[in-house]
Amino acid sequence: MSTVPIDIRISTRADAATLTCLHQDAWRYAYRGIIPAVTLEKMIQRRDVRWWERMHRVGGQALLLEFDHEVAGYATFGPNRVRKLALGGEIYELYLKPQYQGVGFGKRLFKEARRRMRERGYTGHLVWSLGANESACRFYEALGGKEHARTIEALGGLKFEKIAFVWR
Ligand SMILES: CC(C)(COP(=O)(O)OP(=O)(O)OC[C@H]1O[C@@H](n2cnc3c(N)ncnc32)[C@H](O)[C@@H]1OP(=O)(O)O)[C@@H](O)C(=O)NCCC(=O)NCCS
Repeated sequence: MSTVPIDIRISTRADAATLTCLHQDAWRYAYRGIIPAVTLEKMIQRRDVRWWERMHRVGGQALLLEFDHEVAGYATFGPNRVRKLALGGEIYELYLKPQYQGVGFGKRLFKEARRRMRERGYTGHLVWSLGANESACRFYEALGGKEHARTIEALGGLKFEKIAFVWR
């Protein structure tokens, strides 16, 4: 019997091209039918390989989950950006390739991001999700997140509700 390795590691600049493709696939799959197509494509194009290279050059990193030596998903996290919410950390992004969704990888990445935030001394954390991204909302609820705040964001001339899920 052979075993397939699942590994979580920190990205480097050499992962920029992989992250570009993963981001494109995951965003098209997650937001098609939610964000207007032209706006969605513009958002995706802004995240080209140069964007990911620059992110690493200025000290940014992503947490990568590898399945059988292939990057299946990523998470980014750091300090909470909304000061009036008294929480230390924030998961900024958590995206899996469509073919790797629904088999527990999101939960693994989430838990590892959470562990690393605790290690850095962050007390509690939050995640923002579009309310219309119902699948992501159900995922965060399944992981114990509690809805804490709502806000409105304008994208492509439309208004979208964003929900903050919180873990204390
Ligand atoms: C959202 C996402 C990260 C979840 O990762 P995933 O690997 O598909 O989810 P998992 O298989 O790890 O599920 C973890 C738990 O959430 C539950 N869950 C996941 N999606 C769910 C859904 N749509 N409805 C109900 N429960 C759900 C699972 O049943 C599981 O519960 P358990 O721990 O009790 O078994 C992933 O599907 C994804 O990348 N989606 C597209 C991008 C996206 O929307 N990202 C979030 C942006 S805010």
